[in-house]
Amino acid sequence: MNEREAMARALDLAWRGWGRVQPNPLVGAVVLAAGEAVGEGWHAEYGERHAEPAALEQAGERTRGATLLVTLEPCAHYGRQPPCTDIITTSGIRRVVAAMADPNPIAAGGADRLRAAGVEVEIGLLGQAAGSQNASFLHRVRDPSRPFVGLKLATSLDGRIADSEGSSRWISGEEARAYVHWLRAGFDAIAAGGRTVRADDPSLTVRGSLQPRVAPRRVVFTESADLDRGLTVVRTTGDTPTTVIASTTAPAARLRELEASGVTVLLADDLEAALRSLRQAGVMSLLVEGGGKLAGALLARGLVDRYHWVQSPLWLGEGGVPAVSGLPDTAIANVERWEVAERRPLGGDTLLVMDRRPCSPAW
Ligand SMILES: NC(=O)c1ccc[n+]([C@@H]2O[C@H](COP(=O)([O-])OP(=O)(O)OC[C@H]3O[C@@H](n4cnc5c(N)ncnc54)[C@H](OP(=O)(O)O)[C@@H]3O)[C@@H](O)[C@H]2O)c1
Repeated sequence: MNEREAMARALDLAWRGWGRVQPNPLVGAVVLAAGEAVGEGWHAEYGERHAEPAALEQAGERTRGATLLVTLEPCAHYGRQPPCTDIITTSGIRRVVAAMADPNPIAAGGADRLRAAGVEVEIGLLGQAAGSQNASFLHRVRDPSRPFVGLKLATSLDGRIADSEGSSRWISGEEARAYVHWLRAGFDAIAAGGRTVRADDPSLTVRGSLQPRVAPRRVVFTESADLDRGLTVVRTTGDTPTTVIASTTAPAARLRELEASGVTVLLADDLEAALRSLRQAGVMSLLVEGGGKLAGALLARGLVDRYHWVQSPLWLGEGGVPAVSGLPDTAIANVERWEVAERRPLGGDTLLVMDRRPCSPAW
Protein backbone atom coordinates (compact mmCIF):
# COMPACT_ATOMS: atom_id res chain seq x y z
CA MET A 1 0.00 0.00 0.00
CA ASN A 2 1.35 3.43 -0.90
CA GLU A 3 0.55 6.74 0.81
CA ARG A 4 -2.20 7.65 -1.65
CA GLU A 5 -3.92 4.28 -1.14
CA ALA A 6 -3.56 4.63 2.62
CA MET A 7 -5.15 8.10 2.50
CA ALA A 8 -8.01 6.75 0.38
CA ARG A 9 -8.51 4.10 3.08
CA ALA A 10 -8.42 6.80 5.79
CA LEU A 11 -11.16 8.70 3.90
CA ASP A 12 -13.27 5.52 3.77
CA LEU A 13 -12.78 4.99 7.51
CA ALA A 14 -13.78 8.59 8.24
CA TRP A 15 -17.30 7.97 6.84
CA ARG A 16 -17.92 5.62 9.79
CA GLY A 17 -18.43 8.72 11.93
CA TRP A 18 -21.29 9.98 9.71
CA GLY A 19 -24.33 10.83 11.84
CA ARG A 20 -22.36 10.43 15.07
CA VAL A 21 -19.67 13.15 15.18
CA GLN A 22 -21.19 16.34 13.83
CA PRO A 23 -20.65 19.24 14.46
CA ASN A 24 -17.12 17.81 14.61
CA PRO A 25 -15.49 16.82 11.31
CA LEU A 26 -15.29 13.28 9.93
CA VAL A 27 -11.71 12.06 10.37
CA GLY A 28 -9.95 8.82 9.48
CA ALA A 29 -6.33 7.74 10.00
CA VAL A 30 -3.99 4.96 8.90
CA VAL A 31 -0.52 4.10 10.21
CA LEU A 32 1.68 2.94 7.33
CA ALA A 33 4.85 0.96 8.11
CA ALA A 34 6.96 -0.58 5.34
CA GLY A 35 4.04 -0.37 2.90
CA GLU A 36 1.61 -2.07 5.26
CA ALA A 37 -1.38 -0.55 7.08
CA VAL A 38 -0.57 -1.49 10.69
CA GLY A 39 -3.14 0.70 12.41
CA GLU A 40 -6.53 2.15 11.49
CA GLY A 41 -8.75 4.58 13.32
CA TRP A 42 -11.62 7.00 12.90
CA HIS A 43 -13.45 9.59 14.95
CA ALA A 44 -16.46 7.53 15.93
CA GLU A 45 -18.43 9.61 18.46
CA TYR A 46 -18.74 13.31 19.15
CA GLY A 47 -16.48 14.33 22.05
CA GLU A 48 -14.75 10.95 22.13
CA ARG A 49 -11.38 9.67 20.95
CA HIS A 50 -9.95 11.18 17.77
CA ALA A 51 -8.90 9.11 14.75
CA GLU A 52 -5.15 9.48 15.32
CA PRO A 53 -4.87 7.93 18.82
CA ALA A 54 -7.17 5.11 17.71
CA ALA A 55 -4.90 4.27 14.75
CA LEU A 56 -1.72 4.67 16.84
CA GLU A 57 -3.04 2.36 19.54
CA GLN A 58 -3.80 -0.34 17.00
CA ALA A 59 -0.31 0.01 15.49
CA GLY A 60 1.34 -0.40 18.92
CA GLU A 61 5.15 -0.62 18.71
CA ARG A 62 5.03 -0.40 14.90
CA THR A 63 4.49 3.37 15.10
CA ARG A 64 8.28 3.82 15.52
CA GLY A 65 9.57 5.38 12.29
CA ALA A 66 6.16 4.92 10.57
CA THR A 67 4.00 7.37 8.61
CA LEU A 68 0.60 8.51 9.83
CA LEU A 69 -1.93 9.39 7.15
CA VAL A 70 -4.85 11.40 8.45
CA THR A 71 -7.69 13.15 6.62
CA LEU A 72 -7.42 16.35 8.70
CA GLU A 73 -4.44 18.15 10.23
CA PRO A 74 -3.99 16.77 13.77
CA CYS A 75 -5.36 19.11 16.44
CA ALA A 76 -3.04 21.07 18.70
CA HIS A 77 -5.47 22.10 21.42
CA TYR A 78 -7.16 20.76 24.55
CA GLY A 79 -10.83 20.33 23.71
CA ARG A 80 -12.83 17.36 24.94
CA GLN A 81 -9.73 15.33 24.07
CA PRO A 82 -6.00 16.01 24.59
CA PRO A 83 -4.06 17.41 21.59
CA CYS A 84 -3.33 14.72 19.00
CA THR A 85 0.02 16.39 18.26
CA ASP A 86 1.34 15.35 21.72
CA ILE A 87 0.25 11.74 21.25
CA ILE A 88 1.88 11.64 17.80
CA THR A 89 5.20 13.11 18.93
CA THR A 90 5.53 10.62 21.77
CA SER A 91 4.57 7.68 19.54
CA GLY A 92 7.71 7.70 17.41
CA ILE A 93 5.87 8.52 14.18
CA ARG A 94 8.44 9.98 11.77
CA ARG A 95 6.16 11.48 9.10
CA VAL A 96 2.58 12.79 9.06
CA VAL A 97 0.59 13.28 5.86
CA ALA A 98 -2.69 15.19 6.31
CA ALA A 99 -5.22 15.57 3.49
CA MET A 100 -6.15 19.11 4.55
CA ALA A 101 -5.28 21.81 7.03
CA ASP A 102 -7.68 22.36 9.92
CA PRO A 103 -9.76 25.45 9.06
CA ASN A 104 -10.90 25.79 12.66
CA PRO A 105 -8.72 28.53 14.21
CA ILE A 106 -9.09 26.99 17.69
CA ALA A 107 -7.76 23.58 16.67
CA ALA A 108 -5.27 24.65 13.95
CA GLY A 109 -1.49 24.87 14.25
CA GLY A 110 -0.93 21.13 14.55
CA ALA A 111 1.43 20.92 11.56
CA ASP A 112 3.70 23.62 13.03
CA ARG A 113 3.77 21.88 16.42
CA LEU A 114 4.67 18.58 14.85
CA ARG A 115 7.43 20.15 12.72
CA ALA A 116 8.82 21.89 15.79
CA ALA A 117 9.03 18.45 17.43
CA GLY A 118 11.00 17.11 14.47
CA VAL A 119 8.20 15.25 12.66
CA GLU A 120 8.08 15.61 8.87
CA VAL A 121 4.66 16.98 7.79
CA GLU A 122 3.00 17.18 4.40
CA ILE A 123 -0.50 18.58 3.77
CA GLY A 124 -2.71 18.19 0.71
CA LEU A 125 -2.73 14.52 -0.38
CA LEU A 126 -6.29 13.86 -1.68
CA GLY A 127 -7.18 17.28 -0.28
CA GLN A 128 -10.08 17.81 -2.68
CA ALA A 129 -11.72 14.54 -1.64
CA ALA A 130 -11.20 15.40 2.03
CA GLY A 131 -12.73 18.87 1.51
CA SER A 132 -15.71 17.31 -0.23
CA GLN A 133 -16.21 14.76 2.56
CA ASN A 134 -16.20 17.55 5.16
CA ALA A 135 -18.05 20.15 3.08
CA SER A 136 -20.58 20.79 5.82
CA PHE A 137 -17.87 21.24 8.48
CA LEU A 138 -15.87 23.59 6.23
CA HIS A 139 -19.01 25.62 5.61
CA ARG A 140 -19.73 25.87 9.33
CA VAL A 141 -16.29 27.26 10.05
CA ARG A 142 -16.21 29.64 7.10
CA ASP A 143 -19.78 30.91 6.78
CA PRO A 144 -21.64 31.20 10.06
CA SER A 145 -24.45 33.23 8.41
CA ARG A 146 -26.52 30.21 7.34
CA PRO A 147 -26.50 26.39 7.49
CA PHE A 148 -24.83 24.22 4.86
CA VAL A 149 -27.73 23.39 2.53
CA GLY A 150 -28.07 20.04 0.79
CA LEU A 151 -30.93 19.42 -1.64
CA LYS A 152 -32.14 15.89 -2.30
CA LEU A 153 -34.65 15.02 -4.99
CA ALA A 154 -35.75 11.78 -6.62
CA THR A 155 -36.76 12.53 -10.19
CA SER A 156 -37.94 10.81 -13.33
CA LEU A 157 -35.88 10.94 -16.52
CA ASP A 158 -38.02 13.87 -17.67
CA GLY A 159 -37.27 15.84 -14.50
CA ARG A 160 -40.53 15.27 -12.57
CA ILE A 161 -40.78 14.62 -8.83
CA ALA A 162 -44.41 13.49 -8.80
CA ASP A 163 -47.00 12.30 -11.33
CA SER A 164 -49.82 14.45 -12.67
CA GLU A 165 -51.92 13.52 -9.62
CA GLY A 166 -49.20 14.75 -7.25
CA SER A 167 -48.15 11.28 -6.13
CA SER A 168 -44.40 10.83 -5.62
CA ARG A 169 -44.50 7.51 -3.74
CA TRP A 170 -41.97 4.98 -4.95
CA ILE A 171 -40.38 6.95 -7.77
CA SER A 172 -37.09 5.52 -6.55
CA GLY A 173 -36.35 2.02 -5.26
CA GLU A 174 -35.31 0.36 -2.02
CA GLU A 175 -31.56 1.16 -2.22
CA ALA A 176 -32.27 4.83 -2.90
CA ARG A 177 -34.57 5.00 0.11
CA ALA A 178 -31.92 3.37 2.31
CA TYR A 179 -29.41 5.94 1.04
CA VAL A 180 -31.75 8.79 1.96
CA HIS A 181 -32.11 7.51 5.53
CA TRP A 182 -28.32 7.25 5.81
CA LEU A 183 -27.98 10.76 4.35
CA ARG A 184 -30.52 12.26 6.76
CA ALA A 185 -28.55 10.95 9.74
CA GLY A 186 -25.68 13.34 8.95
CA PHE A 187 -27.77 16.53 8.91
CA ASP A 188 -29.00 18.70 11.77
CA ALA A 189 -32.39 19.26 10.11
CA ILE A 190 -34.54 17.85 7.30
CA ALA A 191 -36.85 20.25 5.44
CA ALA A 192 -39.72 20.24 2.97
CA GLY A 193 -42.05 22.82 1.43
CA GLY A 194 -45.62 23.32 2.63
CA ARG A 195 -47.18 21.72 -0.45
CA THR A 196 -45.11 18.56 -0.07
CA VAL A 197 -46.07 18.28 3.59
CA ARG A 198 -49.78 18.70 2.75
CA ALA A 199 -49.60 16.31 -0.27
CA ASP A 200 -47.43 13.51 1.15
CA ASP A 201 -47.73 13.88 4.93
CA PRO A 202 -44.07 12.78 5.30
CA SER A 203 -42.44 11.84 8.62
CA LEU A 204 -39.03 13.33 7.68
CA THR A 205 -37.35 11.12 10.28
CA VAL A 206 -34.35 8.78 10.10
CA ARG A 207 -35.51 5.18 9.85
CA GLY A 208 -32.47 3.36 8.50
CA SER A 209 -29.81 1.17 10.08
CA LEU A 210 -27.69 4.17 11.14
CA GLN A 211 -29.01 5.86 14.28
CA PRO A 212 -27.92 9.52 14.40
CA ARG A 213 -26.42 10.76 17.67
CA VAL A 214 -29.03 13.54 17.65
CA ALA A 215 -32.19 13.05 15.60
CA PRO A 216 -32.44 15.82 12.99
CA ARG A 217 -35.25 18.27 13.63
CA ARG A 218 -37.94 18.70 10.95
CA VAL A 219 -38.39 22.04 9.20
CA VAL A 220 -41.35 23.12 7.07
CA PHE A 221 -41.08 26.16 4.84
CA THR A 222 -44.57 27.61 4.51
CA GLU A 223 -45.69 31.13 3.71
CA SER A 224 -49.33 30.50 4.64
CA ALA A 225 -48.75 28.35 7.77
CA ASP A 226 -51.58 26.21 6.39
CA LEU A 227 -50.63 23.03 8.21
CA ASP A 228 -53.29 20.87 9.75
CA ARG A 229 -52.51 19.69 13.30
CA GLY A 230 -53.18 16.10 12.15
CA LEU A 231 -50.16 16.16 9.79
CA THR A 232 -47.40 13.84 10.99
CA VAL A 233 -44.74 16.55 11.41
CA VAL A 234 -47.13 18.56 13.62
CA ARG A 235 -48.67 15.63 15.50
CA THR A 236 -45.32 14.03 16.39
CA THR A 237 -43.34 17.16 17.28
CA GLY A 238 -43.04 15.86 20.85
CA ASP A 239 -40.99 12.91 19.54
CA THR A 240 -38.89 14.74 16.93
CA PRO A 241 -39.04 18.54 17.11
CA THR A 242 -40.57 20.41 14.19
CA THR A 243 -39.87 24.02 13.26
CA VAL A 244 -42.22 25.88 10.93
CA ILE A 245 -40.84 28.87 9.06
CA ALA A 246 -43.78 31.05 8.11
CA SER A 247 -44.19 34.44 6.50
CA THR A 248 -44.94 37.45 8.72
CA THR A 249 -48.22 37.73 6.79
CA ALA A 250 -49.40 34.25 7.82
CA PRO A 251 -52.67 34.35 9.80
CA ALA A 252 -51.88 34.77 13.50
CA ALA A 253 -54.52 32.20 14.48
CA ARG A 254 -52.74 29.47 12.47
CA LEU A 255 -49.40 30.36 14.04
CA ARG A 256 -50.92 30.22 17.53
CA GLU A 257 -52.48 26.84 16.78
CA LEU A 258 -49.14 25.44 15.58
CA GLU A 259 -47.39 26.76 18.67
CA ALA A 260 -50.08 25.24 20.85
CA SER A 261 -49.29 21.89 19.19
CA GLY A 262 -45.69 22.23 20.36
CA VAL A 263 -44.20 23.30 17.03
CA THR A 264 -41.52 26.03 17.06
CA VAL A 265 -42.58 28.88 14.79
CA LEU A 266 -40.05 31.21 13.21
CA LEU A 267 -41.10 34.15 11.05
CA ALA A 268 -39.12 35.15 7.98
CA ASP A 269 -40.04 37.00 4.83
CA ASP A 270 -37.41 35.55 2.57
CA LEU A 271 -35.31 32.42 2.36
CA GLU A 272 -32.11 34.20 3.38
CA ALA A 273 -33.75 35.37 6.62
CA ALA A 274 -35.22 31.90 7.14
CA LEU A 275 -31.81 30.25 6.86
CA ARG A 276 -30.26 32.88 9.12
CA SER A 277 -32.77 32.15 11.85
CA LEU A 278 -32.24 28.41 11.52
CA ARG A 279 -28.49 28.90 11.91
CA GLN A 280 -29.09 31.08 14.98
CA ALA A 281 -31.27 28.29 16.34
CA GLY A 282 -28.27 25.94 16.05
CA VAL A 283 -28.99 24.25 12.71
CA MET A 284 -25.62 23.99 10.98
CA SER A 285 -26.66 21.67 8.17
CA LEU A 286 -30.04 21.40 6.46
CA LEU A 287 -31.20 18.75 3.99
CA VAL A 288 -34.07 20.04 1.85
CA GLU A 289 -36.13 17.24 0.32
CA GLY A 290 -38.35 19.24 -2.02
CA GLY A 291 -40.66 19.93 -3.53
CA GLY A 292 -39.91 21.66 -6.78
CA LYS A 293 -41.04 25.14 -5.82
CA LEU A 294 -38.95 25.31 -2.67
CA ALA A 295 -35.99 23.72 -4.51
CA GLY A 296 -36.24 26.26 -7.35
CA ALA A 297 -36.51 29.20 -4.97
CA LEU A 298 -33.40 28.12 -3.04
CA LEU A 299 -31.41 27.41 -6.21
CA ALA A 300 -32.41 30.73 -7.78
CA ARG A 301 -30.95 32.55 -4.78
CA GLY A 302 -27.73 30.54 -4.76
CA LEU A 303 -28.64 28.96 -1.41
CA VAL A 304 -27.95 25.30 -2.24
CA ASP A 305 -24.43 24.02 -1.62
CA ARG A 306 -24.83 20.37 -2.63
CA TYR A 307 -27.40 18.52 -4.73
CA HIS A 308 -28.08 14.81 -4.12
CA TRP A 309 -29.93 13.76 -7.24
CA VAL A 310 -31.54 10.34 -7.41
CA GLN A 311 -32.53 9.73 -11.00
CA SER A 312 -35.00 6.92 -11.64
CA PRO A 313 -35.41 5.20 -15.02
CA LEU A 314 -39.02 6.20 -15.73
CA TRP A 315 -40.98 8.97 -17.43
CA LEU A 316 -43.84 10.90 -15.81
CA GLY A 317 -44.87 13.23 -18.61
CA GLU A 318 -45.77 16.84 -19.16
CA GLY A 319 -48.38 16.93 -16.37
CA GLY A 320 -45.96 15.72 -13.66
CA VAL A 321 -44.63 18.07 -10.95
CA PRO A 322 -41.36 19.73 -12.13
CA ALA A 323 -38.30 18.90 -10.01
CA VAL A 324 -37.28 22.55 -9.98
CA SER A 325 -39.64 25.46 -10.69
CA GLY A 326 -39.02 29.13 -11.17
CA LEU A 327 -35.34 29.14 -12.08
CA PRO A 328 -34.52 32.22 -14.16
CA ASP A 329 -33.31 31.65 -17.75
CA THR A 330 -29.53 31.55 -18.06
CA ALA A 331 -27.58 31.74 -21.33
CA ILE A 332 -25.20 28.82 -21.81
CA ALA A 333 -22.34 31.30 -22.00
CA ASN A 334 -23.09 32.37 -18.40
CA VAL A 335 -23.97 29.09 -16.73
CA GLU A 336 -22.44 28.03 -13.48
CA ARG A 337 -21.22 24.42 -13.84
CA TRP A 338 -21.53 22.26 -10.76
CA GLU A 339 -18.79 19.92 -9.69
CA VAL A 340 -19.58 16.17 -9.52
CA ALA A 341 -18.58 14.80 -6.12
CA GLU A 342 -20.02 11.31 -6.49
CA ARG A 343 -21.74 9.21 -9.16
CA ARG A 344 -22.93 5.64 -8.53
CA PRO A 345 -25.83 3.25 -9.01
CA LEU A 346 -28.38 2.81 -6.23
CA GLY A 347 -30.08 -0.40 -7.33
CA GLY A 348 -31.90 0.53 -10.54
CA ASP A 349 -31.56 4.26 -9.84
CA THR A 350 -28.54 6.54 -10.25
CA LEU A 351 -27.10 8.86 -7.64
CA LEU A 352 -25.30 12.03 -8.62
CA VAL A 353 -23.94 14.27 -5.88
CA MET A 354 -22.91 17.71 -7.09
CA ASP A 355 -21.42 20.77 -5.45
CA ARG A 356 -22.16 24.31 -6.42
CA ARG A 357 -18.50 25.13 -6.07
CA PRO A 358 -15.52 22.93 -5.39
CA CYS A 359 -15.15 22.14 -1.69
CA SER A 360 -11.62 23.38 -1.72
CA PRO A 361 -9.87 22.82 1.60
CA ALA A 362 -8.17 26.19 1.08
CA TRP A 363 -10.51 28.91 -0.14
N1 LIG B 1 -39.66 12.98 -5.70
C1 LIG B 1 -39.25 13.76 -4.74
O1 LIG B 1 -38.06 13.74 -4.34
C2 LIG B 1 -40.21 14.69 -4.08
C3 LIG B 1 -39.79 15.37 -2.95
C4 LIG B 1 -40.67 16.28 -2.37
C5 LIG B 1 -41.91 16.49 -2.93
N2 LIG B 1 -42.31 15.79 -4.01
C6 LIG B 1 -43.64 16.07 -4.61
O2 LIG B 1 -43.66 17.44 -4.96
C7 LIG B 1 -44.98 17.95 -4.89
C8 LIG B 1 -44.97 19.29 -4.16
O3 LIG B 1 -43.99 20.13 -4.74
P1 LIG B 1 -44.32 21.63 -5.13
O4 LIG B 1 -43.25 22.10 -6.03
O5 LIG B 1 -45.72 21.71 -5.62
O6 LIG B 1 -44.32 22.39 -3.74
P2 LIG B 1 -43.21 22.51 -2.56
O7 LIG B 1 -41.94 23.03 -3.09
O8 LIG B 1 -43.19 21.26 -1.74
O9 LIG B 1 -43.89 23.58 -1.62
C9 LIG B 1 -44.05 24.90 -2.05
C10 LIG B 1 -44.47 25.66 -0.83
O10 LIG B 1 -43.33 25.92 -0.01
C11 LIG B 1 -43.57 27.07 0.76
N3 LIG B 1 -42.56 28.09 0.57
C12 LIG B 1 -42.01 28.83 1.57
N4 LIG B 1 -41.14 29.70 1.09
C13 LIG B 1 -41.12 29.53 -0.24
C14 LIG B 1 -40.42 30.17 -1.27
N5 LIG B 1 -39.56 31.18 -1.05
N6 LIG B 1 -40.64 29.77 -2.54
C15 LIG B 1 -41.49 28.74 -2.81
N7 LIG B 1 -42.19 28.10 -1.85
C16 LIG B 1 -42.01 28.50 -0.58
C17 LIG B 1 -44.97 27.56 0.33
O11 LIG B 1 -45.82 26.87 1.25
P3 LIG B 1 -47.32 27.25 1.61
O12 LIG B 1 -48.12 26.88 0.39
O13 LIG B 1 -47.59 26.38 2.78
O14 LIG B 1 -47.36 28.71 1.92
C18 LIG B 1 -45.10 26.99 -1.08
O15 LIG B 1 -46.42 26.88 -1.51
C19 LIG B 1 -45.79 16.89 -4.18
O16 LIG B 1 -46.61 16.27 -5.16
C20 LIG B 1 -44.77 15.91 -3.65
O17 LIG B 1 -45.28 14.61 -3.70
C21 LIG B 1 -41.48 14.89 -4.60
